[in-house]
Amino acid sequence: MLSEEYIWEKIGKDGFTRIAAEFYDRMKEDDLIGPMYPQDDWEGAEERFRDFLHFRFGADQRYLETRGHPRLRGRHMPFKIGIPERVRWLEIMHQSMKAAKIPDDCAETLSAFFAQVADFMRNQPE
Ligand code: HEM
Repeated sequence: MLSEEYIWEKIGKDGFTRIAAEFYDRMKEDDLIGPMYPQDDWEGAEERFRDFLHFRFGADQRYLETRGHPRLRGRHMPFKIGIPERVRWLEIMHQSMKAAKIPDDCAETLSAFFAQVADFMRNQPE
């Protein structure tokens, strides 16, 4: 597991910006969880996720200033998230990190983080 500081130094703020951009490009086309996102505000959704990544890994304050405390589990409650949704989200993230040219060592640690959060977001019985 690499440290968050190492990842931030290696891929930079721009690395996380690229991940968010690739992720939403793909999510727009997704048939399972794409429809859950605000169809008239893809730019806003990308911005919220990008700011969150900058906050979580680089202590950038913009997310907190615009959205407050993340409360991610609560914010995902309106959406039905079971195993298929979790698997799909992580697949799209995997492709996005590849497309964003995130080095393998960083992508591996980030994948573990995303998998853990995605598991925590589940609000449907197995
Ligand atoms: C497990 C499957 C997941 C599904 C189906 C899902 C779905 C969604 C949807 C529909 C939104 C609302 C979009 C918007 O208007 O911003 C959202 C927001 C968000 N998601 Fe997820 N998500 C999942 C997992 C994750 C994971 C693993 C993370 C982070 C590591 C994450 C981070 C966020 C953030 C930061 C927001 C914006 C929160 C805010 O309103 O400030 N999500 N997600």
